[in-house]
Amino acid sequence: MTTWYDHAIIYQIYPKSFQDSNGDGVGDLNGIRARIPYIQALGVNAVWLNPIFTSPQVDNGYDVANYYAVDPQMGTMADMEALLAAFHAAGIHVILDFVLNHTSDQHPWFLDAVSSKDSLYRDYYIFAGQNGRRPNNWGSFFGGSVWAPDPAGSGQSYFHLFDRRMPDLNWANPEVRHAMQDVADFWLQKGVDGLRLDAFIHIAKASLDQDWPTAAGDDAPVVAEPFFANRPQVQDWLRPFCQHVKADYPDAMLLGEAASASVDLAAAYTAADNHLMDSVVTFRYFTEQAPAKAKLPAAYQPREMDWLAFKQGQATWQQTLQAPPTLYWSNHDMARLATRVAHGPVQARSLALLMYLQRGIPIIYYGEELGLENLALPDAAAFGDATVTDFLQQAKAAGVDDRQALAWVNATHKLPARGPMPWGDSVGGGGTAASGVTGAAGSPSQPAGTEPPTAAAARLRATAGFTTGTPWLDGTAQATATAAAQDVDPTSSLHFYRELIALKKRPLFAAGDYHLLSTSDNLYAYRRTLADSQALVVVNLGATPATLEAGLSGMTRRLTAGKVTRHGDHLTLAPYAGVVLTTHQD
Ligand code: GLC
Repeated sequence: MTTWYDHAIIYQIYPKSFQDSNGDGVGDLNGIRARIPYIQALGVNAVWLNPIFTSPQVDNGYDVANYYAVDPQMGTMADMEALLAAFHAAGIHVILDFVLNHTSDQHPWFLDAVSSKDSLYRDYYIFAGQNGRRPNNWGSFFGGSVWAPDPAGSGQSYFHLFDRRMPDLNWANPEVRHAMQDVADFWLQKGVDGLRLDAFIHIAKASLDQDWPTAAGDDAPVVAEPFFANRPQVQDWLRPFCQHVKADYPDAMLLGEAASASVDLAAAYTAADNHLMDSVVTFRYFTEQAPAKAKLPAAYQPREMDWLAFKQGQATWQQTLQAPPTLYWSNHDMARLATRVAHGPVQARSLALLMYLQRGIPIIYYGEELGLENLALPDAAAFGDATVTDFLQQAKAAGVDDRQALAWVNATHKLPARGPMPWGDSVGGGGTAASGVTGAAGSPSQPAGTEPPTAAAARLRATAGFTTGTPWLDGTAQATATAAAQDVDPTSSLHFYRELIALKKRPLFAAGDYHLLSTSDNLYAYRRTLADSQALVVVNLGATPATLEAGLSGMTRRLTAGKVTRHGDHLTLAPYAGVVLTTHQD
């Protein structure tokens, strides 16, 4: 059976940063609705919205306090219904972020669970230990132990894989599994077209009485994934959930976040006869080279990509998965493509072309189509992340200049990748009221390069049309041309992405076979074939020109990033350039 998501091209929207419609500095649902014409013009057929549920926003919505209500900062349920209707009218499917591994500590289940050891909801969460002692030495992804003391003072601890204000649900409890099924039903009935299953690989935990082995005397918590990632019960517990969804909504896309899953596990999670996900997002695509400062944590040091590992990885995922792999360069959990990987705009484009024309489902992170870079946040406090403070202290002790160290964190941390969308125009007559949004995307209210006449307009320009207020994330944007400016510039990144997406929709790229070419180290090249049609995609990954000899007869150039020349069967690519050729009409 073929469904829409076999050919999905997904645009990822971080709602808080996409478009504010009421001047409070936080993006909202009416703002997104006003920008549907822009999303439609991109050519995508689906959006994935990061969480929109009621939340104290400890982790920007991944800490859910009510699964059945929209966060007031995002809008109302009526706004959500209007948004769904408007997306559907535009032919765009909507995938919701579905947070199932944990809730907020403000969720009524948790508040009840900590009200008494006898609470009916106690077993919705994972409590263990006694006398305030941690049951084991496992470490949280967000730093420190996975255990936090029961706030009611029972002497037990509760388990949290992420922030301590995000307690893990106990999926071993069938009531939890049913409760999450009810949440899914609610949203599918509302008309959402898919769910992105957040952190689903973590729902099962090993027996808690096991420490991760460490050297004698070392009692620091350890992120011990074998104890809480990809355990067999994950599949056993999710299969009924997924089957339940598909029974009533066979066209609902189930997109899993499988950050650390190996390719074989990803294949199992997506095998049709395993009745789980339709596709998964892996975090294993991007191996980086060793950091400059071996003694400092690698995560916050900008590093070059390891292109050999990348090519081997792509070949593996392309060849191994039966289901379509997801194809992406960035998301809200990593620094942006233009900051993290690309050496300038040419490479940003050629890498997009390389990635998205492979076999699979592109997921394009909002702003990437403009070449958007990470923000620069002003200081350590702006990150609200203890691992950043630690890193900056360690860097200082190692003799790294403070500003340099902060610049490194800005270039590598996930938070500066969540900056406001630089629209450069307003929606709804200056963007003053939610009710006034009209969707005037693409028609700049302020011509590029002229000074805005009023203070309000100056503010608008400073925040690039995202908000008339103060953006929730305070940082300095790099000078990326706005969406409005790029819309009227045929040589812009935005136009390039529109052409790329249009190419991706052709049957050859949507459904053709993938075949890796043997090339010199600094090239990545593959063919796509479908019946008599053929495409060749070639990208120069390096800083020096590179040449490829390939059968090019009958092929026409479709899209180029940078300078590429062709003589007979020879292609010469300038540094970081890329090109796509196809047989006639394909
Ligand atoms: C996922 C999300 C990430 C979030 C975490 C906890 O990894 O992508 O942003 O912090 O889950 O929900």
